Amino acid sequence: MPETELRQNRLKVGIIGCGRISEKHLSVITDEHIAADLLAVADLDETKAREKSGKYNVPWYTNYEDMLAEHPDIDLIHVLTPTGYHARHVLDLSKYGKHIVVEKPMALRLEDADEMIRAQERQHRRLFIIKQNRFNQAVMKVRKAMDQGRFGKLVMGTVRVRWKRDQRYYDQAAWRGTFELDGGVMAQQATHHLDLLQWFMGPIASLQCRAATRLMNIEVEDTAAAVMQFTSGALGVFEATVATRPEDLEGSISILGENGSVVIGGTAVNKIEYWKFFDRRSEDDTIVKEFSEEVPNVYGNGHFLCIQNIVDAIRCNKKAMVEGPEGKKTVELLTALYESASMDGETKVPGEKITRSRLGRSRNV
Ligand SMILES: NC(=O)c1ccc[n+]([C@@H]2O[C@H](COP(=O)([O-])OP(=O)(O)OC[C@H]3O[C@@H](n4cnc5c(N)ncnc54)[C@H](O)[C@@H]3O)[C@@H](O)[C@H]2O)c1
Repeated sequence: MPETELRQNRLKVGIIGCGRISEKHLSVITDEHIAADLLAVADLDETKAREKSGKYNVPWYTNYEDMLAEHPDIDLIHVLTPTGYHARHVLDLSKYGKHIVVEKPMALRLEDADEMIRAQERQHRRLFIIKQNRFNQAVMKVRKAMDQGRFGKLVMGTVRVRWKRDQRYYDQAAWRGTFELDGGVMAQQATHHLDLLQWFMGPIASLQCRAATRLMNIEVEDTAAAVMQFTSGALGVFEATVATRPEDLEGSISILGENGSVVIGGTAVNKIEYWKFFDRRSEDDTIVKEFSEEVPNVYGNGHFLCIQNIVDAIRCNKKAMVEGPEGKKTVELLTALYESASMDGETKVPGEKITRSRLGRSRNV
C-alpha cells in the first residue's frame, strides 16, 4: 500500500476491560508512533471505565454493546476481560465484524479456541493473541539464531517460572484462582513461557506433569512441573510456581543444542545470561549486553511491539506474529499438561479434555 494511503488508514480502537492489564494496551494505542486512535473504553465496573475515560479523554461505557452501537466505525476491539470470558466475549463480538485482539491465554478450553477462530473466519475478520514476550529483544535474538540454524540439533529446552503471587492477588477479583475463569500458574503465568518453549523447540509429542497447591488458598495449582518430549526427539523440562518467596526470582528459558547454548533469564525473559556457540561470531561478544533490557515488572516491555505488529498487520494486510491458530498451540499444550497432572500419567499433545474432577485430583494440598 502506498505510504500516503497507509498514513490515512489509521485504525479505530475500542477497549473492553479496564483492569490491571488495560494500561499496557491503552498507553500503546495512544502512543504517537502507533497508527491507531482510541475511540472508547468499556468495563462493567463504572469506576474503572470512568478512570480510563478520564485519563485518555474518550467516552466510557459499562456495556460494550452500547459502545459498539455508538461507535460503529471501530475497526479493532481489544478484549481484556478475565480469561474464562474470552471465548464468550469474542463469540458475541464477532457478530460486529471487527478485528479482535484478545489477551493471553486466548481460552482455557480447546473447543473454545476453535470456536473463536471459526467465528472470526466466518466474518472474514482476524483474531490476534497477545504474546508480548515473543517481542523481547533477547527472545527475538535467540529466535534469529535458531532460524539461522546456529543451535544445530536441539537437545533440551528448559523453562522456569519462579514468581511470587500472594493471597491478596487472588482475593482482588472473584475470577482469580478459579478453575473455570483463570486456571493456575500453568494457564495464567507460565502460559508465556510455554509459548516460547514450543516456539523455539517445535511441537511437543508427549509429556508428564505434576501439579500442586502449596501455599495459596485457591482451587487451581500454584506449582507445577513437567517433563516433555518434542517431536524432534529433544527433551523439555518445565517448572512453574507462584509460591516463590519472598519475591519474584526468575522467568527464564534455556535452549541447548549440539552447537551451542543460550539462557534467557531475568524475571521476565528479558536478559541474555549465557550465549555461546562453537561457531563464534564477532557480534556474540556484545550480545549479552545489547539484547538485555530492564523491565518495570514481570509483564515486561513487549506490549508495544506486540500491538504495533497487530496494527501493522491489519493496515498492511500481512501476517501478524500470533493469530488464532498460533495462539491455540498454547491451549493444546495446557490441555495436555492439566490432563497429565490429573491422570498421573503420560499424555499426548494436544490433550483431550480438562475437567474439574480431573484437576481436583491433581491437587496435593
Ligand atoms: N499479557 C500479560 O502479561 C498479561 C498480564 C496480566 C493479565 N493478562 C490477561 O489479561 C486479562 C485480564 O486480566 P486483568 O489482570 O487485567 O484482570 P482484571 O480483573 O484486573 O480486569 C478485567 C476487567 O474486565 C472487566 N469485565 C469483565 N466482564 C466484562 C464485560 N462483559 N464488559 C466489560 N468489562 C468486563 C472487569 O470488570 C475487570 O475490570 C486476562 O485474560 C489475563 O490473563 C495478561
